[in-house]
Amino acid sequence: MPCAGPNVMSKYNIQKFAVIGAGNMGSGIAQKIATEGFSCVLVDLDDEKVERGMNIIRDLLAQGVERKVFSPKQVEQILANLHGTSDWSELADVDLVVEAVFENLDVKRSVFKRLSENCKETAILGTNTSSFYVKDLASAVTNPERLVGLHYFFHPAKNRLVEVIGHAGTSDEAYLAAWAAQEAIGKTPIWSSDAPGFVVNRYFVPWVNEGVRLLEENVANVATIEWAAKKAFGVGMGPFELMNVTGVPITMHAANTLADALHSFYAPSQALVDFCAGSERNWNLDGPIDESKYDSIADRLLGVTFYVAAQLVDEGVSSIEDTDIGARVGLRWPRGPFDMLNRVGVERARWLAEAVATQYGLALPKLLIDAPAHGLPIELVSSCDAGVATDLRFNSPATMNALDKNVFLQFDSKLQLARATGKAIVLRSTGKAFVAGADIKFFVDSLKANNYPSIAEFAGHGQKIFKMLSGGERAVVARAHGLALGGGAELALACDWIVASPKAAMGFPETGIGIFPGLGGTQRLPRRIGMPLAKYLLYTGHILDAKSALSIGLIDAVAGFSDIDEVCLEWAAKNPAAEREAPTECPDGRWQAVWDFFDSNTVDEILTGEADCMGDAMLEQACKRMGQKSYHALKLCEGLFVEGAHQALERALELEGRDLEVAFLHPDALEGLSALLDGRRPSFAKPAFA
Ligand SMILES: NC(=O)c1ccc[n+]([C@@H]2O[C@H](COP(=O)([O-])OP(=O)(O)OC[C@H]3O[C@@H](n4cnc5c(N)ncnc54)[C@H](O)[C@@H]3O)[C@@H](O)[C@H]2O)c1
Repeated sequence: MPCAGPNVMSKYNIQKFAVIGAGNMGSGIAQKIATEGFSCVLVDLDDEKVERGMNIIRDLLAQGVERKVFSPKQVEQILANLHGTSDWSELADVDLVVEAVFENLDVKRSVFKRLSENCKETAILGTNTSSFYVKDLASAVTNPERLVGLHYFFHPAKNRLVEVIGHAGTSDEAYLAAWAAQEAIGKTPIWSSDAPGFVVNRYFVPWVNEGVRLLEENVANVATIEWAAKKAFGVGMGPFELMNVTGVPITMHAANTLADALHSFYAPSQALVDFCAGSERNWNLDGPIDESKYDSIADRLLGVTFYVAAQLVDEGVSSIEDTDIGARVGLRWPRGPFDMLNRVGVERARWLAEAVATQYGLALPKLLIDAPAHGLPIELVSSCDAGVATDLRFNSPATMNALDKNVFLQFDSKLQLARATGKAIVLRSTGKAFVAGADIKFFVDSLKANNYPSIAEFAGHGQKIFKMLSGGERAVVARAHGLALGGGAELALACDWIVASPKAAMGFPETGIGIFPGLGGTQRLPRRIGMPLAKYLLYTGHILDAKSALSIGLIDAVAGFSDIDEVCLEWAAKNPAAEREAPTECPDGRWQAVWDFFDSNTVDEILTGEADCMGDAMLEQACKRMGQKSYHALKLCEGLFVEGAHQALERALELEGRDLEVAFLHPDALEGLSALLDGRRPSFAKPAFA
């Protein structure tokens, strides 16, 4: 994949989308694009088919209103972003088209020919094909360097995964623009080469097929295979139930397609062929479960998964990281194939995959032969040379890039290497969040095991790394796309400059979970935005959108997805920020009341009602929110604000580190953190005056 770092100004400026084919996939893709605030034209063969697609969208949105996912006003806005038509001349000004018509090569080629005639030359053309090569469509397209594969997953309005595929003639510029557009519409893109089944279906289809083979070989009945598959992979549905949901013939078709292109290993099992020839539509999932069969089933399913995943990497179809992201985001497996492989242990995984390979006369993938005994390297933080800057990317979209011990270890070493190049650095992330905080489960587990030292070690490591982010010879820029919460907001704050996308959201929810921001938040935040506004944000947990964050100086710039990399580059070229002095005046009149209120009132004055909100709704709301926070955490924050204000940053950060133990060892911490994991409201210790 080309380095997705700050790149030169692109001729592809994507603002308006189109989807061709208003069926199951097309309607969902269009719905997602419109939901993310972009204008989208939905095209089908005739007005009736267009209307059918629009009705699918209307129905789903109405269900969303019932489930309170959307407000009626949001639905109105989403529908206003959509325009259905069968008139192709309306495609003249669209910037990116997704083709989602029948899976028929001639039909698709005729669609691309028509798109070439009706769209401008700088429109990116994408195909959602599942079984053809992208290159098969290139000759039907004028300027085929703008042709990409955009393989979405069902249901495309909900499933975030998209495989972005270039054919040999796709330009880096078009590929990167298509990739950035996927991020803009809330998708999590992964890279795939133009290969049969791309990434996820290549191992998912054999996984399902292996389930049927186990049945065919009388290893176990359907119910037992379902049970063992769910247990071994930690998933909600086994291969048979999944086939029932998606349609059994689809699996057979996908297996045949892979077998035709690759090897008979991928061919549908005879039991699957027989089932499809029969009259039943769905597998009967009922029956007794024989738990003694667990190992023989789990081993086979794991062996197939490890074998194919390693083959994908050997062939350069995908990376270890993207293969895992595909499973976690697209299939909602709790772990990706390589994460599971490392947990099973390389030696055993090799043995399991070898059993599969031997049965089909296949060679064991080189990746498995060469794998070090301690495990395959999985890059939780990846690095690439983007010319003028080094690009460091957090790579765990399924956990919203939460910071944990392993992420810190890799971030530390990648950052040191990046610093050694003498280049500026841009920090970015994969998926919808920049970094949505720290690994809460680790905190809870450590506290329950009376192991605060492991938390101290984690936080100490984070503080050490964050110090490396500023004060260098070249600037470090945080490219904050999506959520930057808690530790993620502190990470951004530790950088010299913060450039955010319009969808960025920043906040510090810690006092609501019984702790305080311990990675510099209590000290860097007041130095950036002034003490009163820092108090407001930490005491209330209020989350700011990009525009508000810019208005108070929390971030340095906001840029839309088509030029955010360019803007990051401009900030990366600036001198690093000097050590900041806390502003003493409110940066924006709209915040003056908040500034004055938090400047003149203590936590106790606010909580006892002594502080006068003067009927200001925003202040009343702030007081109410503070009443729901941990009093202990609020008081610690307040103490640190006062004590740290007159110290050099270095010393102030030491004070923050000192108080972390006091916060974590108070019962509010375990209560607040556990409540977050359990999805319930915490019940904190009340102050004496309450
Ligand atoms: N269904 C899935 O789970 C899934 C997943 C990933 C990719 N895909 C791929 O997405 C594509 C669409 O699949 P689907 O399940 O939405 O199919 P579908 O049959 O539900 O919808 C196809 C739509 O395309 C329209 N169409 C056909 N020819 C057209 C033309 N020449 N111009 C304009 N519209 C035309 C049809 O009228 C229909 O509304 C296929 O390539 C499929 O392989 C499907």
